[in-house]
Amino acid sequence: MTGPNSITLKFSILLIVILAFGARETTCSIFPTTTHVIIKNDIAPHPTPIDLTVHCKSKDDDLGFHTLTFGGIYTFSFRPIVFPIFKNTLFFCGFTWPRNPHRHYLDIYDQALDRCKFCNWKINQTGGTKIDKDGREYFYEWKSIELIIDANSTSKI
Ligand SMILES: *[C@@H]1O[C@H](CO)[C@@H](O)[C@H](O)[C@H]1NC(C)=O
Ligand SMILES: *[C@@H]1O[C@H](CO)[C@@H](O)[C@H](O)[C@H]1NC(C)=O
Repeated sequence: MTGPNSITLKFSILLIVILAFGARETTCSIFPTTTHVIIKNDIAPHPTPIDLTVHCKSKDDDLGFHTLTFGGIYTFSFRPIVFPIFKNTLFFCGFTWPRNPHRHYLDIYDQALDRCKFCNWKINQTGGTKIDKDGREYFYEWKSIELIIDANSTSKI
């Protein structure tokens, strides 16, 4: 069947699809939308600024190494799992900096706990501070720390 009716039908379907996707952007509790993690190097620059190397991973993704100068920012974005019943989206990051022989780990986003769309972190030598959308700060000590054995891997994680 062709003619005005089928064009109208196609247009209506298109409209419904657009509206459905529009609704999806706002009903975050049912369909989680894109989440952004923002990580800032906040290691006190005494006596000199210190670079921070960040390496974030989830079970499925390895986001690689990113080195931040003091005050520098690294961000990544992802879509959490739609129905987090049997598994959650979890991203954890390792942090290293020069002249420190350890990797320091934090869970940077855990779908079971986090509701942030913009997950803001600043990192210093003791751990990470998460800043919520109202500007409140929550400090987390390193979840774990491990010694870097291979001298060649000090800039890696
Ligand atoms: C890191 O930040 C936390 C929270 O502000 C603070 O309590 C801690 O003393 C800081 N660590 C260093 C080494 O500055
Ligand atoms: C470190 O790297 C150098 C050159 O790439 C290599 O010769 C050396 O064996 C490495 N050391 C270790 C402990 O892997």
